[in-house]
Parts: sequence; structure tokens; C-alpha cells
Amino acid sequence: CGIVGYVGPNDTVEVLLNGLRRLEYRGYDSAGVAVIDDAHEISVRKRSGKLARLEELLEANPLQAAGTGIGHTRWATHGGPTDANAHPHLGDGGKLALIHNGIVENFAELREELEGDGVDLISETDTEVVAALVGREVARQGDLETAFRSVVTRLEGTFTLLAMHRDEPGKVVAARHHSPLVVGLGDGENFLGSDVAAFVSSTRRAVAVDEDNIAVITPEEVRITDFAGHPVEFEEFEVEWDAEAADKGGWSSFMAKEINDQPDAVENTVRGRVSPSGVEIPELTALGDERLRGIDRIIIIACGTASYAGQVGAYAIEQWARIPVEVQLSHEFRYREPVLSDRTMVISVSQSGETMDTLMAVKYAAERGVTTVSVCNTQSATIPRESDAAVYTHAGPEVAVASTKAFVAQITALYLIGLHLGRVKGALSAEAAAQAIAQFDELPAKVREAVDTHEQIAQLAHWMADTRSVLFLGRHVGYPIALEGALKLKEIAYIHAEGFAAGELKHGPIALIDHGQPVFVLVPSPRTSPLMHSKVVSNIQEIRARGARVIAVVEKGDTAVLPYADDVIRLPLADAFFEPLLQVVPLQWFALELSTAKGLDVDQPRNLAKSVTVE
Ligand code: G6P
Repeated sequence: CGIVGYVGPNDTVEVLLNGLRRLEYRGYDSAGVAVIDDAHEISVRKRSGKLARLEELLEANPLQAAGTGIGHTRWATHGGPTDANAHPHLGDGGKLALIHNGIVENFAELREELEGDGVDLISETDTEVVAALVGREVARQGDLETAFRSVVTRLEGTFTLLAMHRDEPGKVVAARHHSPLVVGLGDGENFLGSDVAAFVSSTRRAVAVDEDNIAVITPEEVRITDFAGHPVEFEEFEVEWDAEAADKGGWSSFMAKEINDQPDAVENTVRGRVSPSGVEIPELTALGDERLRGIDRIIIIACGTASYAGQVGAYAIEQWARIPVEVQLSHEFRYREPVLSDRTMVISVSQSGETMDTLMAVKYAAERGVTTVSVCNTQSATIPRESDAAVYTHAGPEVAVASTKAFVAQITALYLIGLHLGRVKGALSAEAAAQAIAQFDELPAKVREAVDTHEQIAQLAHWMADTRSVLFLGRHVGYPIALEGALKLKEIAYIHAEGFAAGELKHGPIALIDHGQPVFVLVPSPRTSPLMHSKVVSNIQEIRARGARVIAVVEKGDTAVLPYADDVIRLPLADAFFEPLLQVVPLQWFALELSTAKGLDVDQPRNLAKSVTVE
């Protein structure tokens, strides 16, 4: 869920809506705002559905606000996405408003306690229970901050909570426990957000609130304490993203803009980390070369698209650093009780840096003395802060739920890590490293060429608008790209899609091939991977003989597939490890164009949220 809080002299509803627009990617099942209005009462507007529905409601039924407010955009957990279940929720007889991100696991027993106390609850949410509890404590103990302190320690699960009370105008109180919270520092105004996007258009000065702390903001002051009330020192940081980067510009969707941003995402992620003489990632150097040389096993953990970036990266890191690398889904990791030692490195990959499944896996690893490295796109997010080293991807803010530019930046960062480790370990020669570095130099221009396949792909998608199932085949680093191509289609076009390792086809999936079945085939280069190339061409012949409609993604000049392909998408020449960064681009466009052809919302597909901060 997305959370925003504001205290200051500006139009409060507008500030909240502005923040929510930038946070909507965190969930869009319902949205709501609460303010202390001109009559000094709490006023709430909330509605199920996307933010636009709340904006309509506010237009029809405006709020006059006097400078204190909170806003929420929801991804439903407890209770369906109805108006009643939308946040904010009220407590203390309507004098208090509260919003929540996370899950309160012991809410049923708390609910019973309140009902036993004669409190009437109207929604099905865990949040209303918390609002009622805080409200009861304010009534008993007199002020919001004290009330918060006595309630937060009773809650089990995960939460960021924001609340304000009619009798304490000009103040918002917030608490965090396993769920993100940042403060934005303004001039005579202050902000709270689930991430910096909430306030980046107003201020770039921010403070990351630590685990189990309470933040209190007024227009003039920010105070942070632990749950017991002891003051906590905090450090300010400067947000690198600029506000325009989180705008759609002239594009039809954020996803289209972000696909187009990919050459920059790659370039910015490489910048400052390579020179003709080598690769150096200062964040890894800070860990100490001795420690890095001792690493004998790497486990990459991630979810969704990030896990496919991890799979691509694994091939390269293993090759360059000669360290065994495996990839595990974060939510599977700890349940198998993995064999870990102080010579293991766990690399987490997460665009948001807040994915709860990944965060929990990182904590599990850290507790066991493992070296943890975070590949993350969001400055000062929880996962990089919990890790021994953070290697940031510099893709800029990614807003569309379906990840694109963060994905190519993640692969890039993992490659840089592989090169760095390879050199430190002495497993990679200076010449081999220099060859890879030369590829990075040419990469942005090549990714641009891949972006330019858009027109061709749009036509293809136009003809395929009625397609009900699509298969993707790849080999080696092309295999995770096949998986990613399929995931993109599922996510935004709601089409059944599967990715397979091309060699696996004959072991089962080939039974799916029927007349007209579309199959994208990622064909490795005949120059750099002649053996794999000829195997994949054989796979194409096998499916073609069974009626498949073959869409071949090849490097320019590869004519071997022409006799067997219905459509051919040509990409610039690159070394084997760099092909995935090009191949994925037409697959992203394909998903986007099919989604558009079906009249769907490209940026905000049903049932999903961009950062899932619950397990
Ligand atoms: C969610 C999103 C996916 C994303 C995954 C990992 O499930 O819907 O698109 O790939 O989370 O997100 P992260 O922020 O950890 O990269």
C-alpha cells in the first residue's frame, strides 16, 4: 500500500493527492484521504477502485482543509476492496483517523477485546481494529503519541501506521514495524511517505525511519523515538530522483516511457563503476578483498521479474568469478533451511527494496553470518539498509507495475558484481574483463536499437490480438528471458503464457504445440554460440513441423532461421552475455501492445501491486 502524511500551510488535499498519484503503483484497490477540516473536525473521503474515483468524489464533494492530512492507496489484504474497507479508518468517536500498510496478525483477538468493550466496528479490516485501539488509548491517556506507544507493542505482524487526532491539529504520528516509512523535510512543512515518491515533488531532503521507531511531525519539527519513547538520532539524505522522472511525459503509459528509458538505465548503472583499466564497485571494495576472496558460494534471492534478472546474472557471475551461484525465490529460501556459512554471499535483487518476502530472506541470511549484498533501485529502502553492501541500480523511479528498466539495470549491476568478484578472486583475466567492459560501452546504443523494434512489434501484436496462449523458448541466458517474456504477458495482457528452456521442449511441452500456436524463440548468436545456435534452430524446425507459428528473435545477419520463421525480429550483434539485455525489449513491447489491443490498463494490471510489502 502507499501512504502519505502532511503537515504544513499548503492545500492539504492537493498535497495528499499529488503524493498518492506517485504512490498508486503500490496498490490501487481503493484510495482515501483524511484531513482536519476548517471546522476542526476529521473529514474523510474514501472510495474503492483507482485513485481517479477518489478524485471524482473530491470534486463532487470537496474538503476544506487546514493543513493536517493523511492519504492511502490500498492493496487489499484483510477484507475486499470496498468503500467501507478503504482507509483511513476512524477511532475515538470519529476524532481520530488512521491508515496502515501491512498485516496485523493478531487482529481477531484484538477485535474480540474491543467488541467485549462495546466498541462497534464497521469494516472487516485489521486497520479499523488498530484505529479503535489507538482511539481508546487516546481517550484514556490523553494524547496520540502516548496512545501510539502503548498500542504498537501489542500488535503482531507488520505495519506502518499514520494517525492524526482532531485535538492535536498540525501533527501526524507514525510508527513502523517491518514496513517502510520515510520523512520528507520541508520548509515550514513536513511529510511522511511509504517511499520518497510521496513527496519528491516538494522536497528532496529525506530521513529513513528505522525499524520499531515512532516519528512525530509538525510543520516546524520532526521527532523520532523508539517504541519506549527514547529519542533517536537521525540522519538526513538527499533524494537523487527528480520529480519529472516520475512523470509520464508524452508517453501513453509509464511502461512505454520506461521501456524507452532503458538505454539510460543501463548507462547510469554502469557509470562510475568501469574504466578501461577495470571494474570497481566501491560498495564491494568496502567489504574488504579478503572477505570477498573467501566467498565460496553465492545465492541470489528475489521475486518475480527480479528473480529472472537474478537467473541471467547467475550465469555470468559463475562464469566470470568461478563461484557456484544458485538462484532461489525469496519466499522459498528460508523454509528449506539452506546450508549457509560465513563464506556464503547472498545477493538480493529488488527494484523497490521493500518486497517483504525478500526482506525476510535477507534477514534470515544476515542472522546466520552470511555476507549480504543488495541490488536495489530505491535509495535508502529497507533491504539495502539491512544489507552489508548496497549496489544501487540507477534506473530512476519505475512506476508501471510490470518491471522493465529496473530489470535491465539489475542484470547490468549483477554483471558488474560478477566482473568485480572475478577480478578480486583472480578468476578473470584483465583481457576478459576488458572485453566485457567494452560491451558495456556499446550497450546503450544497442538497447536503443532494440527499443526501435516497437513499430514492428506493434503490428505483430495487432494481428495477434485474439491470441489466447503464447510460448517462449530460450537457452542459456535466453532461458530466463523466455520466462520474463511470459511473465510480462501474464501480468499485463492476462494471457496464458509459458517460458521453457528450449532443450526441455521435447521432454513434454512440445505436446502443447498445435496448429497456429505462437512461439517466440530467442535464438543465440551463430557467431558467439554456434553450438547452441544450431540446437535452437533444430528446436524451431521441430515445432514448425507441428504447426507452430514461429516468431524468431535473432541477431542481424542470422539467416539460418529464415526458412522456418513466420516472423523475424532482428537485434544488434552482441556477446552472448549481452544478448538478453536486447532480447527482452521486443518481448516487453509485445506484452504492452497486446495489453493495449485488449483495452487493458497497461500500468496498473488487475490484482497486482508493484511492491508487495506483505508476506
Ligand atoms: C511484485 C511485482 C513484480 C515484481 C516483484 C518484485 O510481485 O508485481 O512486478 O517483479 O514484486 O519486486 P521488487 O521490488 O522486489 O523488485
